[in-house]
Amino acid sequence: MRRGFNYRVSLLLFLSYITCFREVVSTAVVTLQSVEIFTTHEFIGSDPTVYFNCKGEEKIILPDLKKAHVLYAYKGQESWQPLTEFPSNKCKRCGFYAKHTIKSDDVFSEWEFCPSDFTRPDGKYIYSIDNEVNATFICEECVPHPHIADPDQASKSKDGGHGLHWVIVALISILASILVIFGLAAAYKFWQKKKRQKEQARFLKLFEDTDDIEDELGIGPLGGSV
Ligand SMILES: *[C@@H]1O[C@H](CO)[C@@H](O)[C@H](O)[C@H]1NC(C)=O
Repeated sequence: MRRGFNYRVSLLLFLSYITCFREVVSTAVVTLQSVEIFTTHEFIGSDPTVYFNCKGEEKIILPDLKKAHVLYAYKGQESWQPLTEFPSNKCKRCGFYAKHTIKSDDVFSEWEFCPSDFTRPDGKYIYSIDNEVNATFICEECVPHPHIADPDQASKSKDGGHGLHWVIVALISILASILVIFGLAAAYKFWQKKKRQKEQARFLKLFEDTDDIEDELGIGPLGGSV
C-alpha cells in the first residue's frame, strides 16, 4: 500500500516537473520595433547615446538614435536585437537612458517591464511617457493565448500553430496519465478489498467450525471486533 502511494506521488512529481520545465525552456524574446525620444537631455553640442537596459543585463546601445521627435523604426533583426528575454513570468526593471562621459547617466524612463504587458494579439506593447519616450516592443511569445484569441493569426503563423499543438499534446498526455493513475489506484483498492473479504470469509468459516467448542467454554466469537 505504502509503496504504491510513493510510486504515484513520484509519478505526479515527475509530470509536474516536465510541465514546469517546459515553461522555463520557452524564453520569450523581446525586440524593439520603434522608438521616439522627445528630449535629448541637454547634450552640450554632442549627439546623444541612448541605450536600453534591464537591471543586471548588458546595456543595449541604440546606435542610430540621435534626434528627438523622430520615429526610429526597426526590423527586429538588427545586430543589437533582441533587447531582452523573459525566461519566466517575472517582471524586469528596465529603462531607456542617455549615456554621458562626465556626469552620471540620465534616465528617460525606468519601469517594471512585464511579459503580461503584451496583451495585444499581435504581440505589440507601446510604452509611452509624456515628453520623454515612446517605444513599441514586440514579444509574440509573451501573449498568453494569441492563437485562441485570434484564430486568423494561427493559420498565418505556422510556427505558433506548432507550439499550440505541443501544448495540447502535453495537456492530453498529462490528463491521460492522471486517468491511468486513478484507474490503477482504483483497481488496486478493489483487488485489496476483494482479498480482504476473502480472508474475512475464510476467518469466519474457521470460527464457525470452532463455534461449538467456544460455546462450551463460554467465549464469544470475538463479537464486534471483526
Ligand atoms: C507612439 O508610437 C506609436 C507607434 O509608432 C504611435 O502609434 C503612437 O501614437 C505614439 N504615441 C505617442 C504618445 O506619441
